Amino acid sequence: KLFRPFNVVVDFETGDLTPGKKITRYLSDIQHFFLDKEKVKAVLAKENPLVYEVIYAEVPEEAGHLAHCTTIIYPGKVGNEFFFTKGHLHEKLETAEIYFTLKGQGRLIMASPDGEECEVLEMFPGSASYIPPCWSHRSVNVGGEPLIFYCIFFADAGHDYATIDKTGFPKVVLERNGEVVVENNPNWKK
Ligand code: 6PG
Ligand code: NI
Repeated sequence: KLFRPFNVVVDFETGDLTPGKKITRYLSDIQHFFLDKEKVKAVLAKENPLVYEVIYAEVPEEAGHLAHCTTIIYPGKVGNEFFFTKGHLHEKLETAEIYFTLKGQGRLIMASPDGEECEVLEMFPGSASYIPPCWSHRSVNVGGEPLIFYCIFFADAGHDYATIDKTGFPKVVLERNGEVVVENNPNWKK
C-alpha cells in the first residue's frame, strides 16, 4: 500500500507538533539516575515535576520510514544536576539520528556501547547534532527556559532503555558556581 505524503506543523516556541502523539516523563520516571538520592526523595515528597515531553509524528514503525518528533525538556535541577531525558540506545544499534535544536541551551551526552568513549556536544538554536550509529544518547537542559529539539531517526530503530537503566551514562552535567560543568559520573557502571 502506498503511504500518502503529509505535513506536521512544529511550533518553534512551544515545541508542539501537530498532529502528534505526546508522551510525558515525570521526575519519578527518571529518579534513579540522579546523583543526590536524598534531594530526589525530598523533591518527590512535595511534588512530581514534569521533566520532559516527546511529541511523535504518526509514522509506521517500519524499515524505510523516518520517524520524527520534538522533545521539550523543562528547566530544572535536582540539587545541582540539570534535568535530562532517560537516554537510550536504539534496539537496532546501528541506526543514526539527528537532533536539531529549536530553542534553549543543552548538552547532548553520547557514549559508545561499552561506555569507553563519551562525547558531549552543545545544543543551541540552530545546532544539528549527529548521533552516529551505536552511540547511546541523553539530552540535558542547562538553561532557564525549555530546551526544544526536533529529532529524525529510522522508524524501525526501537528504544533500548534497559541497558542505560543498568549502567547510566559515563558523564553527568552539573551547575557549579553558576557554570555548566561536565564531570565523570561516580555511579557509572560498565
Ligand atoms: C528517539 C530520540 C528522541 C528521544 C527523546 C526522549 O530515538 O526517539 O532519541 O525522540 O526518544 O528525546 O528521550 P528518551 O527516549 O531517552 O526518554
Ligand atoms: Ni534515539
